[in-house]
Amino acid sequence: MDSIVVRGNGPLSGQIPIAGAKNACLALMPATLLSDEPLTLTNAPRLSDIRTMTELLASLGAEVTALQDGKVLAASCHGEINPVADYEIVRKMRASNLVLGPLLARMGHAVVSLPGGCAIGARPMDIHVDALSALGAEIELKDGYLHAKARGGLRGATHEMRFASVGATENFLMAASLAKGTSVLKNAAREPEIVDLARCLRAMGAQIEGDGTSEIVIEGVERLHGATHPVVADRIELGTYMLAPAICGGEVECLGGRIDLIEAFCEKLDAAGVSVEQTHTGVKVSRKNGRIRAVDVVTEPFPGFPTDLQAQMMALLTTAEGTSVLEEKIFENRFMHAPELTRMGANIEVHGGHATVHGVETLKGAPVMATDLRASVSLILAGLAAEGETVVSRVYHLDRGYERVEEKLKAVGAHIERVKAS
Ligand code: EPZ
Repeated sequence: MDSIVVRGNGPLSGQIPIAGAKNACLALMPATLLSDEPLTLTNAPRLSDIRTMTELLASLGAEVTALQDGKVLAASCHGEINPVADYEIVRKMRASNLVLGPLLARMGHAVVSLPGGCAIGARPMDIHVDALSALGAEIELKDGYLHAKARGGLRGATHEMRFASVGATENFLMAASLAKGTSVLKNAAREPEIVDLARCLRAMGAQIEGDGTSEIVIEGVERLHGATHPVVADRIELGTYMLAPAICGGEVECLGGRIDLIEAFCEKLDAAGVSVEQTHTGVKVSRKNGRIRAVDVVTEPFPGFPTDLQAQMMALLTTAEGTSVLEEKIFENRFMHAPELTRMGANIEVHGGHATVHGVETLKGAPVMATDLRASVSLILAGLAAEGETVVSRVYHLDRGYERVEEKLKAVGAHIERVKAS
């Protein structure tokens, strides 16, 4: 397994290009199952999760071809469809569950393995099941697989979710697009990735209104046609790279970044003493004078502070002046980066869903281990600010969600190398 070696850094300067959003692309790709015409996604990110989704869609009978060095995905699903999503693929990536809604809508049945838990939590599927059942699906759990049927097709309905689940909202949107009649989804997730999926579905002929708010109205149509859709910029990659100059000083412009996608995060950066400016080419970030100030963070569904930036923010706050309290309200076990940061000299106390970070003067480089996607990049950010050398192992977690992270950081002056496993 590869590892990444980071050495403490002086100020950074330059530009980092922001790729298309992993979490948008993983919802957009299954939309190809809804139509027998081609769907082309431009500005696609080049990540291992995208390759896993490609593998899953191929096993269902959909073809996804990566063009232009992977930045364009040409997808089509016009032949025989196999409605069975196998455990061997699904267990690698929870987002595989996003084929459930489209398969039900297109085929009237689906057999999708439960993804199983992952490092950050149990990640059940009950909200997905309730939402699709409201559209008339009969879903039962057998041998670890969800067996779903929609005899006579799905029919429009009004449904309120108990929690604004991103994935369940996406499954409902795709399924309701081809249901008979009108559907209303209440307490819908409002993330920018939901808006991007709705834009793509409208380009395919779906009738959807209210995406981005907590109430979405979908008028079912007979069929959907092909489309070409640009994947929205990755707001989590953006937030991650904004923290690099925040942690070690200097000024960096994140090309293609949009502040409006992560306003709650930018407000916290401002309070911590980081200046953020939207330019016409991206987002410019620099550290104001003096030491970073401690801030409290609570993760919430959009438009609140994104859970996917909690680990990275914690890395910044380990050397802030004062004490910060981070509350993780979305996942039940998302502080695994804390003990690794502690190995680097951070002073962090974790109690249940709260982590109290007492700022220290500086961190010391150390060998640390990546445990999940966002935790791994927070260790790299911490390594940029630490004295000495940090070796982050198990970086396959990183490659799931970050394109060429060492190249992007090296381009702005970071001392970072990838060491290939022998
Ligand atoms: C999406 O996951 C993202 N993944 C996650 O990003 C992100 O952290 C999460 O939304 C929250 O913003 C993709 O988009 C591919 P949820 P998703 O359904 O859809 C519980 C990353 O690092 N829940 O909104 O799975 C669940 O256990 C990843 O890029 C149920 O209880 O998130 C969790 O505690 C990590 N039952 C909470 O809701 C359900 O049926 C939020 O889950 C579904 C979810």
